[in-house]
Formats: sequence, C-alpha cells, structure tokens
Amino acid sequence: MFFPDEVERILYTEEQIKARVKEMGELLTKEYAGKNPLFLCVLRGASVFFCDLIRNVECPLEIDFIRAKSYVGTNSSGNVEVEGDLSKISGRDVVIVEDIADTARTLSKLKELLLEQNPKSLKTAVFLDKPSRRVIKDFKADYTGFEIEDFFVVGYGLDCDDKYRNLPYIGVMKT
Ligand code: IMP
Repeated sequence: MFFPDEVERILYTEEQIKARVKEMGELLTKEYAGKNPLFLCVLRGASVFFCDLIRNVECPLEIDFIRAKSYVGTNSSGNVEVEGDLSKISGRDVVIVEDIADTARTLSKLKELLLEQNPKSLKTAVFLDKPSRRVIKDFKADYTGFEIEDFFVVGYGLDCDDKYRNLPYIGVMKT
C-alpha cells in the first residue's frame, strides 16, 4: 500500500471509512426518500467521499459540482472563492457534500450563497469535522462521518499542496 514518508500514521482505514460512509448513506436514504434531492459536490476535496456517498444513498437523486478554494498549504488563507452554477438549486432539496469542516469558513460562505437561490431545503454532509479549529462558532454539519482532533490529514480526497488525494485511507501528516 502507498504510504508516503510525510504521513505519520493511519487515522481511519479503508474498511472503517467504507463502513461509516455506508451508515451515512442509510441516514440520507431515510431523509430523502421520495424527494429527488440535488447532491452538490464541493471540488476537489469532496470528490472521493462524494462518489462513495451517493452510491450508498438508495433513492433517486441528481448531482452537481461546484468549486470552493480556501486553503494554501496547511494554513487557512481566510478567503473563499466559489465557482459554479448556483442557479439550478432554486426550489430543490440540496445537500452540500464537503470533505472537512475546519474553520467552517468555506461551508458557512457556501450556505450563505446557496440560500440566496432559495432552495427548498439545504443540508450539509461532511466526511470529517475538526470542531476545535472552528472560527465560525455556530456552524454544525447535519451529517458528519468522523470528528477528529486538530491534525492535518490527507487521503480519501484530502490533499496537502495537491498531493495524496489518492490515498485510500485517512492519514495524519507529520508535523
Ligand atoms: P474551512 O473553510 O477552514 O472549514 O476548510 C475548508 C477546506 O480546508 C476544506 O475543504 C479542505 O480542503 C481544507 N482543509 C482543512 N483541514 C484540512 C486537513 O486536515 N487536510 C486537508 N485539507 C484540509
């Protein structure tokens, strides 16, 4: 298995991830049965999680992609740029799918922008949550895979300077 030198240890194995994403899919299946929701993937970090998650949701749904950028290296730049067509979410039951809630600046900003389009409902699903790093204190995702401590993690779509998104596990970077 690919285990880069910069990675200190595995936090969640492929098997643990698979089991948790299945559970999240079951919860979403219950919530969205009969609603034809729009699942919105926040590129690029959420791409791997998104593809697994939607295949565990057992009801009709549509997908779309937007891009949000807020990070440089391992430090938050504090800026959030959003690219994508937000107009099609009007009147829809929307689920934003993101890799991680850290400061939560990205997700708070996205929610704000998406709510301007008057979706019927708007929920958030994140694979990881780092509550200790929160800047937007009142942000809480509706669905969370795992809560983690203040580690910088890579794999399963998450990167460090664009590397290691392809690791099938979540690894903690060496400091
Ligand atoms: P936030 O706006 O601070 O919540 O963070 C948004 C983005 O920062 C996420 O979508 C990730 O792309 C990135 N990020 C935050 N923590 C990590 C991490 O531990 N590893 C890799 N990317 C991270």
